[in-house]
Parts: sequence; structure tokens; C-alpha cells
Amino acid sequence: MLGRKTSHRPLVAYRPIGPSDLGILQQLHADLFPIRYEPEFFHNVVNRRDIISWGAVDRSRPNSQRDDLIGFVTIKMVPARESEITDLVRCDPTRSDQTLVYILTLGVVEAYRKFGIASALIREVIRYAKTIPTCRAAYLHVISYNTPAIYLYKRMSFACVRRLYGFYIIEGQHYDAYLFVYYVNGGRSPCSPLEIVIGAVNYVKTSLNSVAGRMWRYDERKPWRWTKCKEKCGVTTTPSQSKRNLVNEGSTEFQCV
Ligand code: ACO
Repeated sequence: MLGRKTSHRPLVAYRPIGPSDLGILQQLHADLFPIRYEPEFFHNVVNRRDIISWGAVDRSRPNSQRDDLIGFVTIKMVPARESEITDLVRCDPTRSDQTLVYILTLGVVEAYRKFGIASALIREVIRYAKTIPTCRAAYLHVISYNTPAIYLYKRMSFACVRRLYGFYIIEGQHYDAYLFVYYVNGGRSPCSPLEIVIGAVNYVKTSLNSVAGRMWRYDERKPWRWTKCKEKCGVTTTPSQSKRNLVNEGSTEFQCV
């Protein structure tokens, strides 16, 4: 199932997942994820019970394999009010019908990676979420060490909004998760006063930096002064910068996306 990158350019088609995919779907989940899924999960996927899914297949493969899954994404709808991101979504409290898309699993067979298949599957999910007028966002969890997936979601303009400490327990070990959100249909929550303050501070910092940059360009006769300042700033800013990155990726990123 896994293996070397396919030698040919695949002819990828996307289709819903159905009962005939059960075996391959189970195998792919076992191969690609460190978490075990219950048989009930797979039956719900293939029989479309509360779970919506898209599969990718390579139509250029020999006939016996041209309909075999090489990628998949599974999602379910959850009521916005009951979700863990209620505070991050613009919700009308008078309406109980507002929903979110939760991305359960996404995977692509190793030989077919970096062809844009996962991106295409996520685009399907976003398109679907947008067609549901009550849907406010799509969201998901990703384990903190899964760099390819983190890059993928960032590239797809998902916002990393939280770090959840010890969210996953795998073989007795705790692992953190990142929570990513993609807002649709005006679902972004309004900026909090804290977000506005952070935005203002960042704006002032950027302005000061650009003024300092201009001073450097105009005051070329005294480069040593700037160098000294740069070194001094370097000592103080670098740790706080990396700390900020940690916070940004981490606990709560107060982002206006
Ligand atoms: N390293 C760094 N970035 C990567 C990598 C990688 N190995 N693979 C993908 N990306 C990022 C890049 O930004 C890439 O854009 P680029 O090619 O322009 O640089 C972007 O993702 C899009 O790549 P795709 O080709 O669309 O992704 P692919 O089809 O290869 O699938 C996936 C990516 C799903 C993460 C795949 O590696 C996989 O199946 N991994 C194992 C299962 C997994 O981790 N699933 C996600 C878990 S989270 C969840 O299920 C909710």
C-alpha cells in the first residue's frame, strides 16, 4: 500500500467513499495513523452514517486498481454550540442550527504524496462547508509533530488557534495537538479587546522597525552605532521572538484571520 513514489503522473479522480472501499480504507488508516479506529468508524464512513467522505483514485492504474483509494478525507457535522471552538466562532445565540465541519481523518498513500491530492481533498471539504448556509467553520486537530500536515493546513489558510497539551495519548505517551480552523460563511469571531491591543502593539513595533531601517539607510557614516544596537536588540529580541512563536503556534493564538 505504501512505498516509493509512483513513477507516472497519476490521473486523479475524486469520488465519494462507499461500501466497496471498506477493506482498503481500514488498511490505509492502519498504515497512516498512530491511532487505532474502531470498526464502527469505518462502517459509518462507507455507509455514510453521519460521516461524509471523499476518496481519491488513480484512473491511470491498471483496471484492477483504477478504483482503489489512494487518498481520503472524512468529516462530520457538529453543532456549533456543542463544539470546543464555540468561543472562536461567530455564532448567533438565538439560533441552534449553526454547524461546523469537523475533519476526522485525511491521508494520502505515500507513493502519491506531494501531487496536491490532500490539498484537493481539503478544497472539497471547504467547498462543501461553504454550501451549507448554517456552517461557520471547518476545524481539525493535528498532532504537534506532524510537520507535513501542519504545513498543509497553513498553506490551505487554516489558522492555528490553539495548542492542546497532552491531547493525544499514544501507547501511554502524551502528545500535544494543534487546533486548526478555516472560517466560512462569515464564521470568524469578532476580535476581542485583547486582540485589538495585540494588533496595535504589533503595528507600533512594525512602524518603529521601519523608522529604524530608514535611519540605518540614511546614517551610513556611523554603521557601528547601529551594529551595536542591532547586537543588543538581538540578545533581547531573539528569545522573546521565539517565545512568541511558541505562543503563536501554541496555547492560544489571538489571530484575526
Ligand atoms: N513536508 C513539508 N510540507 C509538506 C509535506 C512534507 N513532507 N507534504 C505536504 N506538505 C505541505 C506543503 O506545504 C505542500 O505544498 P507544496 O507542495 O507547494 O510545498 C502542501 O502540504 C500540499 O501538499 P499535498 O501534495 O496536497 O499533500 P499530500 O497529498 O502529499 O498529503 C498529507 C499530505 C495528507 C499530510 C500526507 O503526508 C499524509 O497522508 N500523511 C500521513 C497521514 C496524516 O498525517 N494525515 C493528516 C493528519 S491530520 C488529520 O487527519 C485531521
